[in-house]
Amino acid sequence: MVQGDNGGRYPRSPQILQRRLRERQPILRADPPINVSTLQHIPGTFDVLPDPTGSPGAFQAPAAAWRHVEGVVRELAARYGFEEIRTPVLEPTDLIARGAGATSDIVTKEMFAFEKGDTAYVLRPEVTAPVMRAYLEHRLDQRGGTQKLFYIGPCFRAERPQKGRYRQFHQFGTETLGASDPRADAECIAFMVAVYRTLGITNTRLRLNNLGDAEDRRAYRNALRAFLAPHAAELSETSRQRLETNPLRILDTKLDHERRLLEGAPLLPDYVGAEARAHFDEVKRLLSALDVAFEEDPALVRGLDYYNRTAFELESPDLGAQSALGGGGRYDGLAQAIGAAQPVPAVGFAAGLERLFLALDATGATLPAAPRPDVFLVALGDGMAARVFLLAERLRAEGLHATYDLRGASMKAQMREANRQGAPLVLIVAKDEDEAGVVGVKDMASGVQENVAHASLLDALHARLSS
Ligand code: HAM
Repeated sequence: MVQGDNGGRYPRSPQILQRRLRERQPILRADPPINVSTLQHIPGTFDVLPDPTGSPGAFQAPAAAWRHVEGVVRELAARYGFEEIRTPVLEPTDLIARGAGATSDIVTKEMFAFEKGDTAYVLRPEVTAPVMRAYLEHRLDQRGGTQKLFYIGPCFRAERPQKGRYRQFHQFGTETLGASDPRADAECIAFMVAVYRTLGITNTRLRLNNLGDAEDRRAYRNALRAFLAPHAAELSETSRQRLETNPLRILDTKLDHERRLLEGAPLLPDYVGAEARAHFDEVKRLLSALDVAFEEDPALVRGLDYYNRTAFELESPDLGAQSALGGGGRYDGLAQAIGAAQPVPAVGFAAGLERLFLALDATGATLPAAPRPDVFLVALGDGMAARVFLLAERLRAEGLHATYDLRGASMKAQMREANRQGAPLVLIVAKDEDEAGVVGVKDMASGVQENVAHASLLDALHARLSS
């Protein structure tokens, strides 16, 4: 028997239970359950409920609102010709480390990584490297043409949770693989903007930058390092480290004195070669032709190392500190960084669904609530519960949303439940009437109740529901 702390019989507290789990000891049937008041989701994660009202641990938008937003993403993706891809939540750690870049915050600080046997796993912190892995592994290029893919799904980053920043969050995004044409860059930005526009989120700011190609960035990195080196002592510890590993990330600093220091720094666009410059000019021209407003920001660098040429971020001033709704860019070098022999020109973006909901909330939009039943069936009298069970199933087979009480409650309590669920019609299935071939149909709005013959029940329900 596993020993607890109380005389060697049962574990006394949830802590002991957790220790058992940690040490992979069995939990015994005799163990007392964890007190329900200590049951809690992991901070930085949340439940999506049918109706989250009044539950601080649940995400503010109900499941129906998630379905609605995901529906908008799917519908627009279809119009733009993006096909769905679903990759696993678990990926090899190596893929993410090589893909996102060994010096990125995601890899150095934020991976949920673990080992089992000989394999190192990571809960995916993003979906771009996994999509590229799938493209290369399944030789999707052989389907012909450019692969235009979209996804919606959970990602995981071990960040300090706060409003708009979670440890499990959800991204939607697109990846266009095998296209170097600037139209692919502009198309993916246009798609991203269209999602927010369709949902009525217009208080946004699109920032663009040209990161150039690898050799442009190498030259710029050296110039920036040379500029900052004499000021190294004035930099924060993080920036001092970045000066060594990845000086471009210093441009992202939120510290005022570092921003002042950077005022005279060389600018990345000045180091970009002619080809990358022409590419970026065309992206900008295409966006202007679509009336997609943008600002150029030479200090925009992304938190992942795989980008070249186009980089962009969509922000909302309504989000507070975590202002990025979504972002992305071109990543022509990623395929080779994860082992491909040939480069695969590619561009894409990803956006956080939780932040989208925060921005949607700021617009005052009402989110769709959980669907209400069409009909609530009330059982009255002996044996009628089984009759209601069968009748509900028949109505469902005819396409109606039908439900009933499962507690064996009184007539009054069943009516209360029908009301709570917001059913517009209640079917009162009473023994005598049922034997006489009729059921009562009550219109909850008017309070009017009529008997309807079994044979015409379906027509009667449809007529009332469509009136
Ligand atoms: P990212 O900028 O790291 O890019 O993430 C994209 C979006 O995911 C962010 O703008 C934000 O809305 C959301 N997000 C990121 N971390 C969190 C978090 N901890 N909590 C809530 N939301 C979060 C990428 O992931 C790239 N893979 C985008 C891309 C696709 N580039 C090319 N293709």
